[in-house]
Amino acid sequence: MRIGQEAYKKLQELGKFSETEEGVTRYYLSKEYREAREFIENYMKESGLTTRVDALGNIIGEYRREGNKKTLMFGSHMDSVKNGGKYDGNLGIILPISCVRKILLEKKEIDVNIVIVGFAHEEGVTYPGACFTSRAVAGCFDKNMLDLLYDGKRLYDNLKENNLNPDDVDSCKLENIDGYLEVHIEQGPVLENKNLPLGIVTAIQACYRYVVKIGGEAGHSGTIPMDMRRDAVVAMSEIIYKSTKLSLEDKNYLITFGKIDVFPGAINVIPETVEFTIDIRAIDREIIKDKMVEFEKLVQEVCSEKNMSYSIEQVNQIEETKCSERIVKRLEESFTRKGKENYLMPSGAGHDAQEIENLTEIGMLFVRCIDGISHSPKEEVRVRDLEEASEIVIDFIENFHRD
Ligand code: HGY
Ligand code: MN
Ligand code: MN
Repeated sequence: MRIGQEAYKKLQELGKFSETEEGVTRYYLSKEYREAREFIENYMKESGLTTRVDALGNIIGEYRREGNKKTLMFGSHMDSVKNGGKYDGNLGIILPISCVRKILLEKKEIDVNIVIVGFAHEEGVTYPGACFTSRAVAGCFDKNMLDLLYDGKRLYDNLKENNLNPDDVDSCKLENIDGYLEVHIEQGPVLENKNLPLGIVTAIQACYRYVVKIGGEAGHSGTIPMDMRRDAVVAMSEIIYKSTKLSLEDKNYLITFGKIDVFPGAINVIPETVEFTIDIRAIDREIIKDKMVEFEKLVQEVCSEKNMSYSIEQVNQIEETKCSERIVKRLEESFTRKGKENYLMPSGAGHDAQEIENLTEIGMLFVRCIDGISHSPKEEVRVRDLEEASEIVIDFIENFHRD
């Protein structure tokens, strides 16, 4: 079976480990996470890799040679958003395994060491804070995060219940890695619109996230006149409308209000408080900082006019990240050797590569996704595009030993 077909087939099987029927929902430290980790570990083993699970639950597959060979690392995440797709993250774990398997079956050995990591928590949709298990692999994990709460449970306790080892987070750090390549779907429409199967990433934009709380007053929906209310949802709606209007005029940043919780959330009660999230992105962190100053001023104006309270808490901060020129050049050489059109592009989505940049030089290979759809059950790829990507990955591996 051709690699593209094999990887596609494995991704269908892996995609079954989901809390939901609709799309893939696989949260860190869930039953589905454990099932997926075991599936990946088995595929690593049958492909010639030795495996281990680290203190935070990342799955690591290694192929090591005698002597001081260079070490090339691949990786991406095995967790998903709610009702997400089969390929976001998981493609960057499965495809490299398929490529290593093929090389070892045909040539018996590889001229470099290989490390492939399935990162356990990238999306940050449960415990707040994206990419924190790849941050541990890069040796930058903030141990205060072990007190983070999700679903009423501390991360520390949840790790213990999963027979993992939060007291030994430092052991997650990998050493002597000479380069990292993350294979990932583009999650946007650029390659599709250009009718290109693959792209080479030059930089990844910054992503800051916040939780905003607006405080008003509960009341009976049938008795309080409209001009005497302190309705938290009305204030939030005005803020979101005005903020979105500004971003449509500006075009240098993207702002998303993805999650809204209303208290008490009853059909006949004027909303007392509302909590909503902000995901704001730009290729330059200074733009984000300026826009958040503007946003807070807008919140202040709306809340003081309506005599309401507010708070804005930052829950994530990943800075813009340039990919290594050396790795980009190596990718371009692989594209040329394999007769493929070089297309350089930035990444709109955030990735574990941004954390691994603290450990070694990084690069990313984008694979087209159909209609640019991602973070959706409709996320889909073409087998022939996986085939094209595997040609680049194999060529990249086979030439990595060269200086
Ligand atoms: O949100 C992102 O950019 C990525 O999917 N974690
Ligand atoms: Mn994602
Ligand atoms: Mn991803």
